[in-house]
Parts: sequence; C-alpha cells; structure tokens
Amino acid sequence: MTDLVLTGIGQLVTNDPQRDGLLGLVDEAAVAIKAGRVAWVGPERELLRELRDLPELDCAGRSVLPGFIDAHTHLAFAGNRAEEFARRLRGETYEEILAAGGGIHATVEATRATDSMRLLDSSIQRAKRMLGYGTTTVEIKSGYGLETETEINQLEVAAAIDDELAIDVVPTFLGAHVIPKEFIGDRAGYVRLVIDEMLPAAAPLAKYCDVFCDEGAFTVDEAREILAAASGHGLRARMHANQLGHSGGAALAAELGAVTADHLDNITSDDVAALKAAGTVAVLLPTVSLSLRLPAPPARRLWDAGVPVAIATDCNPGTSYVENMQLVIAIASLEAALSPEEAVWAATRGGAMAIEAEDKGVIKPGAVADFVVLEADSYVEIPYRPGTDLVRIVIKNGKVVAG
Ligand code: NIG
Ligand code: FE
Repeated sequence: MTDLVLTGIGQLVTNDPQRDGLLGLVDEAAVAIKAGRVAWVGPERELLRELRDLPELDCAGRSVLPGFIDAHTHLAFAGNRAEEFARRLRGETYEEILAAGGGIHATVEATRATDSMRLLDSSIQRAKRMLGYGTTTVEIKSGYGLETETEINQLEVAAAIDDELAIDVVPTFLGAHVIPKEFIGDRAGYVRLVIDEMLPAAAPLAKYCDVFCDEGAFTVDEAREILAAASGHGLRARMHANQLGHSGGAALAAELGAVTADHLDNITSDDVAALKAAGTVAVLLPTVSLSLRLPAPPARRLWDAGVPVAIATDCNPGTSYVENMQLVIAIASLEAALSPEEAVWAATRGGAMAIEAEDKGVIKPGAVADFVVLEADSYVEIPYRPGTDLVRIVIKNGKVVAG
C-alpha cells in the first residue's frame, strides 16, 4: 500500500456525482494517495503543501480515469474455438453449433481435460493482458466444468489470479451454464446436482451465482430454483438473460432483485421498467453482438429509462475473445449509441455498481486508488482510436503496476 501524488493531470475523470457532469471532470488536476486509497482530489493549484511532499508521478498533461472494471468474463477456460468462429462467419449460427454439441460443450471438454496448472497458466496470461489494458478489477465465472471438480478448479484459478496479480478478482459460480451432454434427457437430474452438490462446494469460493437463462440453456423455473438455493448459501444473483430470445430471464432478474442482468439483447418495455424498479444493473456486452454479427444491445433504451448500465468484455472463447475494455468502450459508442462519456462511465462506475463495489470506479477521498493514465489528453480518444492501446500507466492500490 503506497503513498503517491499524481500531478500534471490534464483531464481527470472522477465519476464523482458531487462534481459537474456525468464524469465529474476536473482540469489541471492532482490526486493524492495514502495507503492505497485516495486522500485528496482537486485542481493542482489547490494541492496542500504537505501532500506535495509525497512521491510524485507527473502525468504531463494526460487524461486520468478510474481503472476499468470488467464485470462479466469467463476467462478461466482451456482451448479455443477459432475453427467454430470461422464456421460462424461462413453462415452457421451460434445456436446450431451449440445444439450440435459444439460451442460451450467444446470448451467444457477442453477445460475438463486440462490440469489445474495449465488452466491457471493460460488464464493468468489473459488476466495479465487485461491489467495491461487498464482493467484493475475483473469478474470471473466458472461454467466450463459442469461437474463439481472442474467448476471448483475454475474458481480456484480465479482465486490464484487474485493472489498472484495486482488485478482484483470477483468470483462467480456458473454451474448452470448449459445442461452438460451426459445429462441431456435428465435436466432435473442436473439441476439437483447443481443444487445439492456443486453449490455447497462452490459457495465458499464464490461471491455470486449466475445462471444462463435462455433458449437452449436453463428455463425460468430452473433458474429460479437454482438462484433461491444460491441465496441460501449467501450468494447473490447475476443472470445471463434474454441474449438469444425473450427468455423471461430479465423479468426473473428483476423479480429476484438480482445484482445484474447481463446481455439483454431481447427485452420488452416491461422488462426495462421491472429492471429499473428492482435497481438491477444492466451489464451489456457489445463485443458479443459484434462477434455474433447481431444488432448491438439496447444500451440507449436502458440508459434513457434510468437503468444503471455497465459494459464488459464477456471474455470467452465462443462469443467474445476480447480482453480489452478500451475496445468495449469503442464498440459501445460506435455500435450501441452510447456517447463516449456514457461508455467510459459504464466501463468504470457502472462496472463498480455491477460488482457492488462502492469504493471503486470513482476518484474521491476514501476510494481505492485504481487508475489508468492514458497516452492521450482526453477519454474521447478511446472510442475515437479503436484498436490502439491508449493506456500508458496502470495504478492499482496506489502503486504503478504496468506501463
Ligand atoms: O456470455 N451466453 C452464454 N455464455 C457465454 C458464451 C460462452 C461460450 O460460448 O463459451 C456468453 O456469451
Ligand atoms: Fe457470459
């Protein structure tokens, strides 16, 4: 835990609602950090003398933002599905490939077959790259085991990444991702296995429970039963909802007061109203729609209705092999019609709300000192220059960890 003062910040994105505008911008700013937390924020000319004596990092007029919070990933997986990707581009659909036993099932097979060291090796490389691209907190789901041992392996990999890298990991149990091949014909048997065996084993390693409630995955009733059991183990709900069809998942997320409802590509105005009333955060995944060549998620509708919006990579080998939140900001702006400031907010403060982290995604006294210093003088350059890594320095708990 470090003391540091950032000076020479040309444009500071604070996301502090006490300041002006959505992003609470401060020009010509300084930020003082003590013991890994923000101690003071403001115009540099007002910086107190005693804070000037801290070790200094001169940002030379660049833009500084809260570290990105990637609130939806499946990054602990083995193998890859480049072949399937090429088949999709030739016209096969994601649903056809999944129904034929490929897709998620292919990654389940590869993840079951690998040992935990190799799973950790490949996953930690992805997490390292994410940190270098400016992600300081990442949510990681299980869901490629679909049997207890491999689900636990995935959650242990998530814990090991949290221990070994500066990035913070938020672990989620997703045993109900799809019905595994060996249970096709016995859906009820798999739901029992999730509830009676996997959940008790996974609960100590997870903060949340997610269910893929969609066509070709779990029904609303199955999801309700699993999430009720999870709640009994102290795990709050997140949901993959309404991605492939009008699954009823979004309505269930609202009914249960889920922390998040994710994807939401197919929603009605009733769903939007219910999510808003429930205070559920919409986690939108614009690079998934891009990879599936489907219309972008309804970010504008949700935002304009007052539902808190987060954006995330959904990093997974099937629908979004994306590690970089800067690209997600770009696609959210270019394809999902968020303004650059809304997209940046959704990747930082929105992400923090999606993992219930009051002290992240914001730069104000008491907040965790997680920042990115851009190689640019404005956050607008992130969507303006898609594909360029504009993160020059990453700071986690007040310490320079990349760049
Ligand atoms: O969020 N929608 C379901 N699960 C993942 C895809 C997982 C996969 O294809 O491996 C998603 O898109
Ligand atoms: Fe996902």
